[in-house]
Amino acid sequence: MKLVLATRNKHKLQEIREIFRLPGLELVSALDFPELEDVVEDGATFEANAVKKAVSLTQATGFWSLADDSGLEVDALNGAPGVYSARYAGEPVDYAANNRKLLRELEGAATRRARFRCVIALADPSGPIRTVEGRCEGTIIDELRGRQGFGYDPLFVPEGYTQTFAEMDGPLKNSMSHRGRALAAAEKTWGEILRMGL
Ligand code: IMP
Repeated sequence: MKLVLATRNKHKLQEIREIFRLPGLELVSALDFPELEDVVEDGATFEANAVKKAVSLTQATGFWSLADDSGLEVDALNGAPGVYSARYAGEPVDYAANNRKLLRELEGAATRRARFRCVIALADPSGPIRTVEGRCEGTIIDELRGRQGFGYDPLFVPEGYTQTFAEMDGPLKNSMSHRGRALAAAEKTWGEILRMGL
């Protein structure tokens, strides 16, 4: 069975491929469908965006599809950047500018608590849309540390650790990350459905 992953982000594809392994499932991605236009992520929630991406890809390809939408919620910023995480500092997406803006906004903040959230939607060409969510609680530090990963990884220290996500190797980050947890939930919840579809 072919499952199309609704992303062209190579970091994300690698993370998803490392975690989501069901026998007989062939994972391809939006990179294999260059003619398809990117979906506009204009939903008010992670769930709305994930569902929109999964449904659009399934309708365009006729295959099952899996889409994730994720981002960072910072308590002192009332949940920002949230669904605007990718373009927090404006267009085009610039991870370094986003991190600089986050550090600026948090100067003098009373709390630096934050969490990554990830919602994953699974779309079946002939069936209902299903979603699961994963979260990872942590803290935003006041300087960039580490070179691995992407996005806000150099500023995020997960609860119970001293390293940032960018200082962790892939398997360690995946074992606790929002995406790792959402994918584990997806595998558990939908394993049977996907196996039946084989
Ligand atoms: P997306 O819409 O799911 O692609 O994610 C939106 C943005 O959230 C990304 O561009 C990153 O800035 C941020 N983000 C999502 N997941 C992660 C992560 O695992 N590490 C760091 N940043 C992330």
